[in-house]
Amino acid sequence: MSIIVTGGAGFIGSNFVLEWLRASDEPVINLDKLTYAGNLENLDSLQNDPRHTFVRGDICDRALIDQLLVTHKPRAIVHFAAESHVDRSIHGPGDFMRTNIEGTFTLLEATRGYWQALEADAKAAFRFHHVSTDEVYGTLKPEDPQFAETNAYAPNSPYSASKAASDHLVRAWHHTYGLPVTTSNCSNNYGPYHFPEKLIPLMIMNALAGKSLPIYGDGMQVRDWLYVTDHCSAIRTILAKGRPGEVYNVGGWNEMPNIDIVHTLIRLLDELAPSKEGSYARLITHVTDRPGHDRRYAIDARKIERELGWRPAETFETGIRKTVEWYLAHQEWVHNIQTGAYQEWVNKNYASR
Ligand code: NAD
Ligand code: DAU
Repeated sequence: MSIIVTGGAGFIGSNFVLEWLRASDEPVINLDKLTYAGNLENLDSLQNDPRHTFVRGDICDRALIDQLLVTHKPRAIVHFAAESHVDRSIHGPGDFMRTNIEGTFTLLEATRGYWQALEADAKAAFRFHHVSTDEVYGTLKPEDPQFAETNAYAPNSPYSASKAASDHLVRAWHHTYGLPVTTSNCSNNYGPYHFPEKLIPLMIMNALAGKSLPIYGDGMQVRDWLYVTDHCSAIRTILAKGRPGEVYNVGGWNEMPNIDIVHTLIRLLDELAPSKEGSYARLITHVTDRPGHDRRYAIDARKIERELGWRPAETFETGIRKTVEWYLAHQEWVHNIQTGAYQEWVNKNYASR
């Protein structure tokens, strides 16, 4: 028995692979293109571990996927690979359409061919789990209830539109062909190995470097934060107990405005790595808002709790402290990730804001 994971060198995928192999000996075949967001350093601890096979490749490459399926005969696929950053999708949506839509289509088609040829028992047990986002539901007003699985799709950015399209493909492959799929729509993750284009790692790294902390607009946009290993445990739970064809919303029951997140990080950094120049709060800078910026996301995670018994293990207080401590303890990872390509992105996104 083995599973194929796509995008397992990215932030959530690498945490998932590490957690998976901590919990079981079932081998993982990890297919990742190693875009700017893929980082093999995240998987350093698995070097020479025979349970982990890394394959550099593209989910749009049908021949490669066919070959992996025939060779490894997985009992499940967990699909993380995606272009994942909203700001990048605004600067250049093309890669998002290709990887998120065409890539998911290619994976579904290859999986369908493989699955249809399985023996009855293996066919019934097989799962394709699609990792998606709460952003497909659009934005909420302050008084709106949280997103439920029954909410209409209303994606607002090129990123969320491409993820919404991929969710629809996954749904259709179940409805039409009977492929045993499950989908999770999760809120904002944070934790170790988070690429520093995203809010939390960007703020930690900028603060430590004495650079400004760029708050888009008024900073009152709300997100629902979940510690990454809780997302991984939710996916493991869905894989083990989820019903084919079902969608599960995953969230942390932790809605917070961005400005409060930044103040929390500042409080922790002032305690754990104080600056001689005084509180990091001096670095807060309000910059031009993100075009089309969604005001509020919030997840109603009652279905996965009711049906599968999953709840997050971390509170925001425990998770965010662990995260700041992780970044402080992994300065080499932090140093290595800030390559020329990363600096180019920082210039592109922030120079004219
Ligand atoms: P990430 O950007 O950190 O990692 C994406 C990974 O996919 C990288 O390793 C990259 O190299 C790989 N990849 C990209 N294009 C590829 C291709 N064509 N073929 C093979 N590999 C490719 O993303 P993440 O934050 O870890 O997100 C993982 C998944 O979870 C995505 O599907 C995302 O939409 C979803 N998600 C993310 C969050 C979040 O807060 N980060 C929340 C909910 C859902
Ligand atoms: O909700 C789930 C989604 O969360 C995932 O699907 C995406 O892959 C993931 O990137 C994340 O999307 P966001 O756009 O919410 O995350 P990001 O970290 O980019 O931004 C979080 C909030 O912080 C958002 O309101 C924009 C704001 N922000 C972000 C950056 C990078 C700032 O104010 N300043 C910044 O410099």
